[in-house]
Amino acid sequence: MQISGNTILVTGGNSGIGFALARKFHKHRNRIIITGRNPDRLKQVLEDYPDWTGYECDFSDTQAITLLAEKIERNHADLNILINNAGIQVAHHFLNDPGIPENCLREMRINFDAPVRLGLHLLPVLLQADAAAIINVTSALGEVPRSIFPIYCASKAALSAYSTALRGQLAETPIRVMEWVPPLTATPMNAHRPGAKISADELAAAFLRAFHKDLQVVRPGKAALLHTIHRIWPTKAQAIIESTP
Ligand SMILES: NC(=O)c1ccc[n+]([C@@H]2O[C@H](COP(=O)([O-])OP(=O)(O)OC[C@H]3O[C@@H](n4cnc5c(N)ncnc54)[C@H](OP(=O)(O)O)[C@@H]3O)[C@@H](O)[C@H]2O)c1
Repeated sequence: MQISGNTILVTGGNSGIGFALARKFHKHRNRIIITGRNPDRLKQVLEDYPDWTGYECDFSDTQAITLLAEKIERNHADLNILINNAGIQVAHHFLNDPGIPENCLREMRINFDAPVRLGLHLLPVLLQADAAAIINVTSALGEVPRSIFPIYCASKAALSAYSTALRGQLAETPIRVMEWVPPLTATPMNAHRPGAKISADELAAAFLRAFHKDLQVVRPGKAALLHTIHRIWPTKAQAIIESTP
């Protein structure tokens, strides 16, 4: 893919990995559109980057996603890259607190349903482009689940399988489907967790290089190491993940 001259929608582009990706692609002369849920953080980013466009949207609300897609279609007919990055990670301890299934499954709606909905809504726009991409940000925990994050891991495993199947369906179109698998990254999502983390800027640089090379599945740093261990010795990979601080 060309690394300049694209019109790129980054969901969750007001924070963490999404913000780092938006800045990196912006530096390479792409038009940037971001979404965020927190209006203050979105406003702050748009003040700092006045040539970006931003839309507030809560991805747990399916109606809001439809409205967002309609606005994008209307205002950005040249959109050719969708980066489905927004996501949440919630710890669940079902024995201590069985929780309300609807609350737990909200995580699935944000992490899985929303990227699927947005991608399908925007398919007609992306199909107009000479070269386009749908990029889904998954997680190493989608491959090797960690027990305290049951819904998160399931949502990322689902998004990974969906990405592979979608790639097959779109093979004869101009749309590439890529899966980006971050390792543990220093962002607000896990600011409270200790342990060695890659920086969001370093991660964004690795993804940009992979984008340029048209790679389908990208596992920077420790995500690649975990993937290899998991293929050779699955129980070892599981033990590594469970013992992460
Ligand atoms: N950090 C890691 O170690 C790591 C590892 C593997 C995968 N990932 C994945 O990378 C992606 C980005 O995560 P991050 O680490 O950059 O986390 P982050 O800094 O917390 O950013 C998450 C983004 O998702 C948005 N978001 C959260 N809930 C939303 C909702 N209901 N509706 C719409 N947007 C919502 C947030 O918007 P607001 O800020 O406006 O709420 C924010 O922009 C996620 O998909 C995550 O699963 C992260």
